[in-house]
Amino acid sequence: MADTNHIKHVASPLARQTLLDSNLTRPVAGKKPIRILPWLQVVKIGGRSIMDRGAEAILPIVDELRALLPEHRLLILTGAGVRARHLYSVALDLGLPVGSLAPLAASEAGQNGHILATMLAPEGVSYVEKPTVANQLAIHLSAARAVVASAFPPYHNHEFPGARLPPHRCDVGAFLLADALGAAGLTIVEDVDGVYSADPNGPGGDKAKLIAETSYADLAKHNGTLPLDRALFDVMANARHIERVQVVNGLKSGKLTAALRGQHVGTLIKTGA
Ligand SMILES: Nc1ncnc2c1ncn2[C@@H]1O[C@H](COP(=O)(O)OP(=O)(O)O)[C@@H](O)[C@H]1O
Ligand SMILES: [Mg+2]
Repeated sequence: MADTNHIKHVASPLARQTLLDSNLTRPVAGKKPIRILPWLQVVKIGGRSIMDRGAEAILPIVDELRALLPEHRLLILTGAGVRARHLYSVALDLGLPVGSLAPLAASEAGQNGHILATMLAPEGVSYVEKPTVANQLAIHLSAARAVVASAFPPYHNHEFPGARLPPHRCDVGAFLLADALGAAGLTIVEDVDGVYSADPNGPGGDKAKLIAETSYADLAKHNGTLPLDRALFDVMANARHIERVQVVNGLKSGKLTAALRGQHVGTLIKTGA
């Protein structure tokens, strides 16, 4: 064959380089990415803390979200709760691997999203699937002030096999999306006022202190339980856009609204961005 070598080369600064040498890739890949939806506010609604409580917790949050629509364009992401925990225990009993557990839990986060979206349907809000979030969020948010999706990241059977329970859950999924979209903010809605020094609902919880402001690095070092996925702190270390996340109490009316208006009403967590 005559010399076909040159036509196979594509003019690109990375064409002849290994992608493994960061000194070579940095001039091309080291730039800050653009913000795709800089006006977007991402709100993660807890599965266990809010959705599992039913009408008593969901109806006031729906009212608050509805009232926020004229002010903000929202990506509302729902978490998984008690049904995922039941699925985990059945699946673990059967010896299923972590990659089989992840999509089971993800399906519950989606169910919670369907419930929330149905409650907001009169406002033009619908539930959208992952591919729509990935490719058609802008058009949906031009037609409606908000959409609802599952917060669970779609690692599914690619979930990392370090533990038997999926390490990448809804806080991680919500943060990855908010940061990739270059959103204006991420607010995590729980059933407590924020992150405490220890579980405020656990034994000795009356002595737990609310942490008003902290960082991903400090929380990564925290011994004991947290209301957030541990893997969130690894992701926050490498954040590109989202500089802080606020954890607020969704059982107290007005906290979410205040957080979206930039007020400090829960726990602020600084990221590495
Ligand atoms: N250090 C802590 N600070 C605050 N809440 C904590 C802490 N440790 C455990 N929790 C508990 O986490 C609960 C929320 O559970 P979580 O699994 O995060 O719910 P969700 O699935 O809705 O995110 C709170 O009600 C609280 O009792
Ligand atoms: Mg939580």
